[in-house]
Amino acid sequence: MEQEQKYLWWQSGIIYQVYPRSFQDSDGDGVGDLKGIIGRLDYLKWLGITAVWVSPIFPSPMADFGYDISDYCDIHPLFGSIDDFDELLQEVHKRDMKLILDLVPNHTSNQHPWFLESRSSRDNPKRDWYIWHNAKEDGSEPNNWLSVFGGSGWEWDEQTQQYYYHAFLKEQPDLNWRNPEVQQAMLDVMRFWLDKGVDGFRVDVMWHMIKDKNLRDNPANPDYQSHQSTYEQLIPAFSTDQPEVHDIVAKMRKVTDAYDERVLIGEIYLPVHRLVTYYGQDNNGTHLPFNFMLITMDWNARTISTNVDEYEGALPEGGWPNWVIGNHDQPRITSRIGQSQAKVAAMLLLTLRGTPTLYYGDELGMRDVPIPPDKIQDPQGLNMPDKDLSRDPARTPMQWDNSANAGFTSGEPWLPLPGNYKRVNVEVQKEDAYSMLSYYRRLITLRQQEAALNVGDYAPVITDGPLLAYIRKTERKQFLVVLNLSHKPCTLKPKHQTYKGKIIFATDPEREGEPVAGNISLYGDEGILVELA
Ligand code: NOJ
Ligand code: MG
Repeated sequence: MEQEQKYLWWQSGIIYQVYPRSFQDSDGDGVGDLKGIIGRLDYLKWLGITAVWVSPIFPSPMADFGYDISDYCDIHPLFGSIDDFDELLQEVHKRDMKLILDLVPNHTSNQHPWFLESRSSRDNPKRDWYIWHNAKEDGSEPNNWLSVFGGSGWEWDEQTQQYYYHAFLKEQPDLNWRNPEVQQAMLDVMRFWLDKGVDGFRVDVMWHMIKDKNLRDNPANPDYQSHQSTYEQLIPAFSTDQPEVHDIVAKMRKVTDAYDERVLIGEIYLPVHRLVTYYGQDNNGTHLPFNFMLITMDWNARTISTNVDEYEGALPEGGWPNWVIGNHDQPRITSRIGQSQAKVAAMLLLTLRGTPTLYYGDELGMRDVPIPPDKIQDPQGLNMPDKDLSRDPARTPMQWDNSANAGFTSGEPWLPLPGNYKRVNVEVQKEDAYSMLSYYRRLITLRQQEAALNVGDYAPVITDGPLLAYIRKTERKQFLVVLNLSHKPCTLKPKHQTYKGKIIFATDPEREGEPVAGNISLYGDEGILVELA
């Protein structure tokens, strides 16, 4: 008899990222808000989502759209009030879903009272809460570290005659995590929200949190290409991914574990062998170090299959996998690999082993929306104007229906909507059995019904050319997934084994029910899911 193993909600569930500015506006100011999200929870439930991650909703001067926080324990009035938040949490839980907040521990806003104090004088008790340093003798920056958003990572403070370090904007000074008071303060922030009942955190730039004690220079990146962000000129060997970060993550984990079944997710862009170290010693680190391989890899079957296998092999014992296909910092999947491959990508995301995270609107096949140069809002785009790095195109309002502004707002939306929203929206796609939305919903339903697809084992199937194939299985059931990552037809010719079964789900529903035995032919851009006999 099959052993009944119990899985936690963040292992068997599906996470959906809401970018709150763009999900649903309720008060006509053109910016999404908490009441707006509450009004759309039934949609998320209908879609099959089990956990909602909301990007920052805290008081902020919005230099980086909420990732510059000036008060960690309140709600920005733009998004609502703390009462609205309590209602949101209650409404999420009422629907048997979970709520994950964004925690931004690496840096605060330069308007946060901690920084205002810290910068007020060199002997202020909070001086050491941030990373202050003297200039070199010639007046230049303490070292060569760069800001992710362009230019130097150091900003000169005229009043106190020192530099402070900021990995992102100068309006986002980095906290000094070597200071125990800083650690305490941020762990208290976690407790504040956990006490309220939130189900966990997505931790912003976890691998940045602590820097080399001696502030050594970063080495040059020999592979730098001029179209890349200026930040890529150096390898951030001393400004990120330091050994001490794991002690901090373990402390965060300990706080999380003092509560019942909460989750800690880490935003980490690192190669697999570095990424998996964030599970921690004996899994005392983050539960889910975000796996961005499907975002950063070339869309090529050979590359992907090698990397999936490498990831599966690199996971520590007891480390649970996860997959992400889009977020608010990256071009949307449709704009990266093309609309024709988007359903294949969805099948990959939702049939691999590990918790999937969806980005709002991807379930409609929403595309990046071109933003006229004079309308660009994202500081990353504005600071490096010749490099096309603005993240605005992937942050446009959710497309709900064919009314004005796609039902997102009755006012002027903070970012424009695409011309095709009257066709590409929730209301229209709900009624269309062949739409991307119907496809996503059926796929999610299937994943949640079939233990093999949800939490079952993964086994690679050897393929060549543009095909990617693998098996998901429990002792009771086996599924074969075959994906064609090219536009041309292609045939899977199994060498050592015959796969016999029936197609139960496909990018073209017309194939469902078809028996399979021996060679399996696929159309271009096609994916099939075979239940094996
Ligand atoms: C990562 C966030 O996802 C991104 O949006 C933000 O700009 C940086 N961290 C800085 O907080
Ligand atoms: Mg609003």
